[in-house]
Amino acid sequence: MEYRLLGDSGLKVSTLSFGNMTFGGESFFKGAGSTQLDEAKIFVDTCIDAGVNLFDTADAYSAGKAEEILGKAIGKKRDQVLIASKCHFRMGEGVNDLGQSRHHIIRACEASLKRLGTDYIDLYQVHTFDSLTALEHTMRALDDLVRDGKVRYIGCSNLPAWAIMKSLAVSDKRNLEKFVSLQAYYSLVARDLECEFVPLCKNEGLGILVWGPLSGGFLSGKYRRGQTSDPNSRRAQWGDYGTFDQELGFQIVDVLDQIAKERHVSISQVALNYLLKKPGITSLIIGARKIEQLKDNLQAVQWQLSDEELKRLDKVSQTTLPYPYWHHKQFNAERMPIPGETPVPYKRELLNSGAES
Ligand SMILES: NC(=O)c1ccc[n+]([C@@H]2O[C@H](COP(=O)([O-])OP(=O)(O)OC[C@H]3O[C@@H](n4cnc5c(N)ncnc54)[C@H](OP(=O)(O)O)[C@@H]3O)[C@@H](O)[C@H]2O)c1
Repeated sequence: MEYRLLGDSGLKVSTLSFGNMTFGGESFFKGAGSTQLDEAKIFVDTCIDAGVNLFDTADAYSAGKAEEILGKAIGKKRDQVLIASKCHFRMGEGVNDLGQSRHHIIRACEASLKRLGTDYIDLYQVHTFDSLTALEHTMRALDDLVRDGKVRYIGCSNLPAWAIMKSLAVSDKRNLEKFVSLQAYYSLVARDLECEFVPLCKNEGLGILVWGPLSGGFLSGKYRRGQTSDPNSRRAQWGDYGTFDQELGFQIVDVLDQIAKERHVSISQVALNYLLKKPGITSLIIGARKIEQLKDNLQAVQWQLSDEELKRLDKVSQTTLPYPYWHHKQFNAERMPIPGETPVPYKRELLNSGAES
């Protein structure tokens, strides 16, 4: 297993970490999995044996049950691993039982500590954006948790780029703890992260933890054009994360399949390996409903895609660049190179043609 620095925190985390959204089987999360304690112990031990040192959970997963199971499954191995959890989503009926107010963050963290059966959470993350709480309150509450020893590092997930920048400015101005990581969705069918967030995180010293690296199973190759899927699978129950062009998705799976066959590895491993080669990525949070899936995915660190294979996957998964990135590519490539592409010198005659306006 390779270990990478989590941004500028000095903390090293395994390039594959384990996410336990599949533990518990309660409420909405039943669709992802229903792993109970005995099996969870096998998942955790398999990860630790493979060198995984980071486990990601959230209070909301199975209404707290996922945290409870994780804490018990880790048990006496607590000192060998890092636990990341999250807060934001509704955890009670009250009007203040969600969000990122000081009121909810402190209560949510204390409840998570109890469920996890631990004195501290290594990485405590806000799960998404709360537009109703001033970032000053959120950052101050998170800072208090660090000073109280309940939390060691803080991170964010699913925040817009401007809010991450603003949070860093607030932390700087008020001398508060800053986010050390962004947990974000990134996969071969969803490469949005590359334009705005990867440069931001590299510039500002945040590590990137990828969630949904197989797009909820789509990139495992078990979904093919015109075929009906296993009704028990996550995708059959939840659908896709966001929306993506399904035909493009199948074309990506076709290339993954070719590479997998040439290398005698699984399609999932190729999809995970691709993300590990991309700039700025610290760790992929892998998910698995079954132990065979976990063992398969853990093999993704045992080999590496060649530059030529990487280019094939880059090419098939390329989608239209959003503004202003297409403008940078077309007119400003010398000063704003697109990662992975050779800068094309700016051509003055384009100006005269009226193309740049
Ligand atoms: N911050 C956030 O908002 C957020 C959101 C989502 C997830 N997360 C975190 O990220 C973790 C991983 O996310 P994810 O579960 O969506 O990851 P994923 O890798 O995109 O999907 C995992 C699912 O794909 C299927 N799968 C995995 N490996 C496979 C294999 N080798 N062959 C065939 N199918 C395979 C399994 O589902 P089936 O067997 O049901 O098909 C598995 O549960 C979560 O546990 C959680 O910790 C965070």
